[in-house]
Amino acid sequence: MTKPAILFVCLGNICRSPLAEAAFRKAAEDAGLDVDVDSAGTAAYHIGSPPDPRSVATALDHGIDISGLKGRQLAAEDFTRFTHIFAMDAENLRNIRRAAPSDATAEISLLLDLIPGQEGREVDDPYYGGDDGFARTWDEVSAAAEALVERLRG
Ligand code: 4NP
Repeated sequence: MTKPAILFVCLGNICRSPLAEAAFRKAAEDAGLDVDVDSAGTAAYHIGSPPDPRSVATALDHGIDISGLKGRQLAAEDFTRFTHIFAMDAENLRNIRRAAPSDATAEISLLLDLIPGQEGREVDDPYYGGDDGFARTWDEVSAAAEALVERLRG
């Protein structure tokens, strides 16, 4: 079997997708799964930037230090380098599909499609809201991360 390579994508790569990356990396490690994990943004706004301080604090609440991550933009090679690309929301999903080169092999879907009963739901952008939005983002991305581990194990 090809080694799973998972890419989480949001708009800026500073709020949601770094949390998804962190939650999944931890869940996969705990399960003893050998996987590649990364995150990216569809936009170029935050290339080279660390995650939003509120995401850093939220990950730390769960014992994970993401302060060393750096924002990057989704690139053409991601579509062959990764086996799965997960979008946080419908706009990300559209932009990812639009950016896909003709030789793309990655499976592209909405992150919360992983959770039975939550198909089609979005991980809302917490950027403009309060800190409680980040705790909710964590709950959503970690539930999806657990579901993905279960799927990859099965
Ligand atoms: P993210 O959140 O897509 O979850 O990283 C955002 C980060 C930055 C901006 C928008 C959303 N922004 O407009 O700069």
